This record gives sequence, structure tokens and C-alpha cells, in this order.
Amino acid sequence: VNPSLHILGISGSLRRGSFNSNALRAARELALDSVTIEIADLSDIPLYNQDEEQQLPASVVALKRRIRAADAILVATPEYNYTIPGVLKNAIDWTSRPYGDNSWDGKPAAILGASTGAIGTARAQYDLRKIFVNLNVFPINRPEVMIANAASRFDAAGKLTDEQTRDFIRQLVANLAAWTRRLALASEQPLTR
Ligand SMILES: Cc1cc2nc3c(=O)[nH]c(=O)nc-3n(C[C@H](O)[C@H](O)[C@H](O)COP(=O)(O)O)c2cc1C
Repeated sequence: VNPSLHILGISGSLRRGSFNSNALRAARELALDSVTIEIADLSDIPLYNQDEEQQLPASVVALKRRIRAADAILVATPEYNYTIPGVLKNAIDWTSRPYGDNSWDGKPAAILGASTGAIGTARAQYDLRKIFVNLNVFPINRPEVMIANAASRFDAAGKLTDEQTRDFIRQLVANLAAWTRRLALASEQPLTR
């Protein structure tokens, strides 16, 4: 009745000890048993160059496959200069191409973000929602998981210790799973890869 769901987690930070990557690890731990979250690594994605679109770099081909194979995507975005980091935008640009082969097309998604500032990536998240319009990605609206003052919510080992934030992330992943199942039912598409 509840087929298992496979979610691809994408963090917009390459930093060791990234709060956003650690928030994705928390999501993986807090997901229901029927939901698995696998976390992609963007560190081997080169800078986008349209000259290479006819023969995509192997790392891009691999990421495109993983996005397409996932039932849903969970993006954890930092906020850099009031928007999403270049690392994330660059990976999105590659995987939306070549024209007519956008790997994100029709995917259910959810967004979370962690920042050391007081606004908790709100500006970056709304920019990402705008990008999702062009990708034809269907993000859930609630809860909005904006982790402000992130340094106070994780311990030295990178574990998310803030109980309220853990509850928000648990709810986010549960809502994403429910939304993914609804979209699959609506389109009568089996949840398979
Ligand atoms: C280039 C740069 C720009 C930043 N701009 C913002 C910003 O606009 N808003 C904000 O809340 N934090 C900003 N920060 C601080 C980030 O929230 C902080 O570095 C955070 O730890 C990044 O996420 P991560 O831990 O996943 O790497 C910026 C950091 C960098 C390196």
C-alpha cells in the first residue's frame, strides 16, 4: 500500500562540516522507514560550459541519472549573498540541459536551508522556488524549514540537536513523501525507477 520512496538529497555546500549537508543527514535519519534518502556529492561537477553539452562530463551524466531515478528531490541550500550558492546553481544548470533533456522535469521536491544568519536562507529559498518554475519542479510549500543561527543547533560532531528543527525536518520529509505519492497517483505513474 505504501511503496518505498527514494529521495535524492542535494546540498548546495561543499564545505566539510556544512550545516546544510548535516541537515540532510538529519533528514535521512528522521525519514519514515518507507523512505530512503541518498545524498549526492556535487564536488566533482565542473563549471558549466555549453560547448560540452554534446558530450557531457561523466559526473554530470551520473548526477542527471540519479535525479531522474529519484522519486523526489530534497534540496538543502545555503544562502550566499542573498541567493543560492553558485555550486548549486551550476549543478542545476548542467542537469537541466541539454535543451529537451531537463532531468528535473515533473519532479516533486522539498527545500530546506541552514544559515549562520538570522534569516535562515529565506531569500535563497524563494530564489530556488523561482528556478523550480522553469525546471517544472513541484515543491511542497510547508513547512518552510529555514534554520537560522545554525551554529547553535548542531553539536561539534555535526548532529542536529535542536528538537524543534528536528520536528520541522521530520514533517518536511513526511509531507514530501505524501506529496510524491499524491502526484504519482494523479498521473497514474508507478513509483519505480
Ligand atoms: C560567500 C558567502 C556569502 C554568504 N552570504 C550569506 C547571506 O547572504 N545570508 C546568510 O544568511 N548567510 C550568508 N553567509 C553565511 C552562511 O550562512 C554560512 O557560511 C553557512 O555556514 C553556509 O552553509 P554551510 O554551513 O552549509 O556551508 C555567506 C557565506 C559565504 C561564504
